[in-house]
Amino acid sequence: MAGTFITFEGGEGAGKSTQIERLRRFLEAEGHDVVVTREPGGSPRAEEIRAFILGGRAKDRGPVLETILFAAARLDHLDTTIRPALAAEKVVLSDRFADSTRAYQGASGGIESGLIEAIERVTLDDTRPDLTFILDLPPETGLARADKRRAGTGGPADRFEGEALAFHASLREAFRSIAEREPGRCVLIDADRDADTVEAAIRTALLARLPHLAAPKDLRDAS
Ligand code: TYD
Repeated sequence: MAGTFITFEGGEGAGKSTQIERLRRFLEAEGHDVVVTREPGGSPRAEEIRAFILGGRAKDRGPVLETILFAAARLDHLDTTIRPALAAEKVVLSDRFADSTRAYQGASGGIESGLIEAIERVTLDDTRPDLTFILDLPPETGLARADKRRAGTGGPADRFEGEALAFHASLREAFRSIAEREPGRCVLIDADRDADTVEAAIRTALLARLPHLAAPKDLRDAS
């Protein structure tokens, strides 16, 4: 039996990392081996590509180059981190994955969907998430949260945080329409609430979609 692949998506400051950490704790308490990873990044080579893109070094060559770089990072991340973990029956929680390319480079960056789909096909092959949580909130709220987080670290806005509000509003629409088009895989979560309430909504959806994750370990082993 293969493992379980769960991704978290959404705009800036949606609270993905907080919720991933809470879900990791829950799943570990249920006896699962959990791998938490992120995109762009998640493997040494992909982290190098991350630094290159988020440092803004590909920006002046336009969104096609960025799309290809995100895909290159994803290819390495899949081969090095995600597929081996799934083969070892672990639960993989990824902070962003291919839906971010669809939303950021596709719907908001202007790359046509045929190209995004073709790149997705060669990059992902048949490794698709079992479940995707799309954390939804108004971009004003998310950007204010991201600003506050940055004030704590003293760092500058990254490549995409620095885009205009209209870009972030279109991102929100892009993520919402992904959730609408693929209701079997995606769950839209209202993230404009306190972390405990969001966590409870995620837990409820998780157990409805993937009930085997909460089954006692001896039953899982027997199946
Ligand atoms: P990160 O600091 O991880 O942001 P966040 O906390 O919002 O997840 O930076 C990742 C940035 O890269 C984020 O702005 C989204 C963007 N991105 C894309 O544009 N395309 C992609 O395929 C991925 C994975 C991320």
